[in-house]
Amino acid sequence: MALGPNPGQAKILRSGPDWHSLIRLILPGDASDELALAATAIAQQLAIEFVDTSNQSICADCFHLTYTSDAWQLYPPERSDGLGKHPLWVDFVQNPRFGQVLTTREPLAKAAGLRANQRPQIIDLTAGLGRDAWALASTGCSVMAFERHPLVHFLLADGLRRAQAHPNTEAIAQKISLHLGDARAYDGLFPGQEDPEKYPVWVMDPMFPERSKSALVKKDMRIFHHLVGQDDDAEELFAWARTRSGVRWIVKRPPQAPTISSDKPAMVITSGRVRFDCYLPTRKAIKT
Ligand SMILES: C[S@@+](CC[C@H](N)C(=O)[O-])C[C@H]1O[C@@H](n2cnc3c(N)ncnc32)[C@H](O)[C@@H]1O
Repeated sequence: MALGPNPGQAKILRSGPDWHSLIRLILPGDASDELALAATAIAQQLAIEFVDTSNQSICADCFHLTYTSDAWQLYPPERSDGLGKHPLWVDFVQNPRFGQVLTTREPLAKAAGLRANQRPQIIDLTAGLGRDAWALASTGCSVMAFERHPLVHFLLADGLRRAQAHPNTEAIAQKISLHLGDARAYDGLFPGQEDPEKYPVWVMDPMFPERSKSALVKKDMRIFHHLVGQDDDAEELFAWARTRSGVRWIVKRPPQAPTISSDKPAMVITSGRVRFDCYLPTRKAIKT
């Protein structure tokens, strides 16, 4: 089966921050010709400016995308308000948080209904930097992940590329297939409720309004809020997903946030700063 967005629905547009103008691509002075060529293509693909730092100065108010230690990393602006100095990048190989397999006792696994010998196919509608997708894939589930923000998709694809090339992470990385674009543009891939078991588990973790600049909001989330904005069409995404093949839909939310739909979740799992609302098929969807 061809895996690509349905051309009729490929243009699901939403407005968001003008991130292209906030980012500059720069390379280290000793970059090879090959890297410079790749960087030119990436700058074009992401529609961001590639700055030659040998004759142009660095913009203190811009984010900088650069290549360091075999990885693409996004540095916050030098003159930034509370975004810190650390780059945003995806590192499944070295970062210890990805070194542990998710157990079936953990909230995300419970929400996904994972049991000892059950490893359902998972659809992650909002891949972001791939943390949930990775955790689910670490249990042995195959994860089809969608990310519509080109820069976020680029960083995650880069992290998966390195994970695929490393013997310790290769097997998990191969369980994740990442697709660029709004998940709804791939509608043709998913049957409706007549075949509920084909894609049984759906996960979504949309962006919510920034709560505050307190230490509670991690710096990488603050960078996300600058560049990605809010997913203010999350309710529509959820409503669409529930008409597709599935037996369980999980929505990750802050503990105090209202539910995404007027339907009551069948189960709620709260743990620390997150809440998982689990939904079962609606009667209406089953009838259609
Ligand atoms: C809060 S982040 C998800 C974080 C992710 N769960 C993780 O573990 O890293 C939400 C992401 O979902 C993406 N997104 C929101 N709606 C989407 C849609 N309809 N299709 C594809 N991606 C979407 C946003 O661009 C954003 O990067």
